[in-house]
This record gives sequence, structure tokens and C-alpha cells, in this order.
Amino acid sequence: MKTACIVLAAGLGKRMNSDLPKVLHNICGIPMLQSVLNSVRKLNPERIVVVAGGHIGKIKESIQSPGVLFALQPRARGTGDAVRCALPVIGDFNGDVLVLNGDTPLVRPDTIRKFLRLHRRDGNALSVLSFTAADPSAYGRIVRDSSGGIEAIVEDRDADPRQKEIREVNSGLYAVRRDALALVGRIKLNRAKGEYYLTDIVSAALRRKMRTSAYPIGTEEEFMGVNTKEELRRAAETMRRRIVAGWTKKGVDFLDAGSVFIHHDASIGRDTVIYPNVHIEGRTKIGKKSTVYPNVRIVDSEIGREAVIKDSTLIENSRVGDRASVGPFAHIRPGSEIGRQAKIGNFVELKKTILGTNTKASHLSYLGDAKIGSGVNIGAGTITCNYDGARKHVTRIEDDVFIGSDSQLVAPVRVGKGSYVGAGSTITEDVPAGALAIGRARQKNIRGWVRKRSKGRVIDVNKKGKDKKD
Ligand code: UD1
Ligand code: CA
Repeated sequence: MKTACIVLAAGLGKRMNSDLPKVLHNICGIPMLQSVLNSVRKLNPERIVVVAGGHIGKIKESIQSPGVLFALQPRARGTGDAVRCALPVIGDFNGDVLVLNGDTPLVRPDTIRKFLRLHRRDGNALSVLSFTAADPSAYGRIVRDSSGGIEAIVEDRDADPRQKEIREVNSGLYAVRRDALALVGRIKLNRAKGEYYLTDIVSAALRRKMRTSAYPIGTEEEFMGVNTKEELRRAAETMRRRIVAGWTKKGVDFLDAGSVFIHHDASIGRDTVIYPNVHIEGRTKIGKKSTVYPNVRIVDSEIGREAVIKDSTLIENSRVGDRASVGPFAHIRPGSEIGRQAKIGNFVELKKTILGTNTKASHLSYLGDAKIGSGVNIGAGTITCNYDGARKHVTRIEDDVFIGSDSQLVAPVRVGKGSYVGAGSTITEDVPAGALAIGRARQKNIRGWVRKRSKGRVIDVNKKGKDKKD
């Protein structure tokens, strides 16, 4: 049987106290609405409709869900009104429609599937998924009759003292046969709140003797609604734990599972070891048997196998080859590629720099807009002067070059294959292959200078041969 989905995302989210639309708040690297859509998508529904309000433009921009349709709810007049706004987009679809809240990011596809099976098994017109809440006050209560059937859903503000005792609550996930869905048009305004409550569809269906059930198959952990930043933090923590547990199962070693943050779209290979306080963000991919030491953040990057990322390193939008070593305290900025077995040491910054196999830059360097071959040794303190105040220029260093410590390479410049650059050089002209380039002031020793100065004699350091006479 066919399924369609409506995801409600047009609420104002006032309780978040934020400029960002509620459903776009981030949970482990993706907006919570995206998290709901990812789960829903696994059911292969025929149509997915997101109901959005004034922020519809921003929501469309922030969500990656090809094929998702959008419906506008011009004013946030309640969940019932939101579903009504989706009806024209649902159109002539004839099957079961799942309705979910965009603020329940922890919902799992398997649970939705199970729920839909029960709905169909019992031939219901309307089904609601419920769970037991420790503190039910943030949810609608499931009111049951003496035979245990659902009678109504009552929001906290409308509940009488007896109903407030009920801990079985509405998850906000409904399965509705298309003909029953039309009943949203019949929902009356809740005067106390000034909203049309989708929950009132239950009494509307029962009045028409449509088969209706509530299935208490949810858990609070999975169906918690995010209405405040406190709830956002809790939901993000649950998701974080789920993701770390998932990678542990796939063979990743975590020294402290409680302090590692991994985004939804990241992946880590088997037998890779992750030390505490590591952040693996965006679409980062880490190969097998690599090691990531403490306080590292890797964003949208690819790390090979058996690579070592040492303490306190930041890697953004870059690639690190197999068995390469980066850090400690390195900053790999976007567009960099570190070759196989290459070594980037402490306090080295790369930006848009490509570096070949076995190349080493072990200490204190800035390498920006550089193309560096393989087997190159970059001495401590080397700087590519890539910016002339207006434009960026490229430095090319060919294979097997040796750059002495504390050299500046003023781009655009090319250092030819196998050549040497003497320590402390300022290289402004291309260096031919196999040459030695030295670009620095010649050293002068002035003998006895200290003794003479102490006698109060003025010394002309430029006078030729002075040092020799003394
Ligand atoms: C809602 C349910 C409650 C349930 C809870 C589960 C109603 C009246 N109450 O309460 O029974 O226990 O979810 O989490 O339905 N939205 C719109 N348009 C609107 C209002 C809301 O699209 O005009 C969207 C919101 O963006 C949100 C969802 O609907 O994603 C739920 O709205 P929210 O205000 O969070 O409802 P709750 O008070 O949590
Ligand atoms: Ca909510």
C-alpha cells in the first residue's frame, strides 16, 4: 500500500529564544528537520511534503532532500491548520499518510515501519503512536475509555487534574487514511490557544465511527520533542551517543566515547583509534587503522588509512594520504592535499597547498598556495610569501628539493627539481634544477667590537678592513 508523509515545520518555535527557525537547529551536523526527513525517506514514501511558514525560503535552502515538496502555512495557526495547508500538495494521493513533527529528530525508520504495520493490520482510519513520559506536561495526554480504546488527546493546558495524572502521551506521529485526513478541515479553533489542534482529529474520527487506535510502542528517548534549547542539547547528546555506538559496532576504538563528536555524514574505518575530545565533522571520511589524538577537529576532509593526526590539530576541507602524519598543533586549511607518508609537524599551517609523497614540513611553517613535489624537505620556519597585498601567487617546489630553515619563498616562484635553498634565504627568483640558491646578506664579523665599545670609542662598522687592523 502506498504511503505519503507530511512533516510539520511551520511552528514559530518561540520557546527556543532564537533567530534561527526551530527545525533548522543543528543536531550532530544536520538540521533536525533533515534528520526527520532522512528517517522518513528510508520508508520510500511516494510523496514527502514539508509544511513551512514564513521561513520557507530559508528552510528550502538548508534542507537537502531532492524531490521533497513544500506547502506554505502562511500563519502558524496550529498543527491542524498546518496539515490542512498540506492537503492541496498531497492532492489525489490515495493511501496512508504519515504525519510527523519536524521537531522530533530522534525518530527511527524501524519504529515508523512497525507503527505503520499495526495501523494496516488493524485496518485503522487513524492511528497515533504514543509513549510514556517521565514528565508528560510538554505533550498531549492520551485519554482512554474504560475498554482501553483511545478517546481523545488533551493538551496540558486543557487537561483537568485527573487527565494530568496520565503519563501516556502523543508522540506527534500519526498514520491517517486519506479519507480520514480530510477531517482536518473540520477541526474547530481551540479558543484558549487560538490554534487548530491536529490532535482534535481523534475525536472527529471517533464521532464518524472511524477505526482509531493509539499504539504505545514509542520511547521517550526516541520521540522527545525539541521545543527549548535545553531539549535541543539533550536530543543532540542522545544522537551523539547513538552515532558513537554505531561506529564502535563497526570496529572503531574510542578511548572516551563520552567526549567524541561525530557528525551524521562522517565515516570512520575499522580499527581506527579515536582519543578524547575529537570532533569529526561534515562529510569527513577517515580510513582504517588511523589514529586521531586528543583535541583534534576534522571538517569535511578525507584522511587515508594508517594516518596519524596528532594532538590539537585542525583540518578543514582537505585530504591527508595513507600513513601521513599531521600535527601536533597543525592547521590544515581548505584545499590542501597531503601526500602519502608525508609529515606535517608542529605549528605548520597549510592553505590550498598540495604536497607530495614523503615530503616533510616538520616545524613552524606557513605554506600557502604552494605545489610541492615528493621527497621535499621544508626546513623549520619556511614561509611562502603568497600575497602581495592584492593578489595571491603560487610557489612551486619540485621533487627532492631541500629548503633550508627560515627561508622565504616570494611567490610567484619556482624551485627546480633536486635543488637546495640555503638556510635563511629570501628567494625571489626561480631556482634551476640541481642548483644551490642562497639569498641572504653576507655575514661580517667585527673583531674586538665589544672591547672598543666599552672604552667609549665610536666604531664605524662599514669601514673596510677595520676588523683586520685591530
Ligand atoms: C504537539 C502536539 C502534542 C504532542 C507533541 C509531540 C498538538 C496540538 N500538540 O505539541 O499533542 O504530544 O506535539 O511532540 O498538535 N507546527 C506547524 N504549524 C503550526 C504549529 C506547529 O507546522 O502552526 C509544527 C512545528 O514546527 C512542530 C510541530 O508542528 O514541528 C509541533 O508543534 P509544537 O508547537 O512543537 O507542538 P507541541 O506543543 O510540541
Ligand atoms: Ca514540539
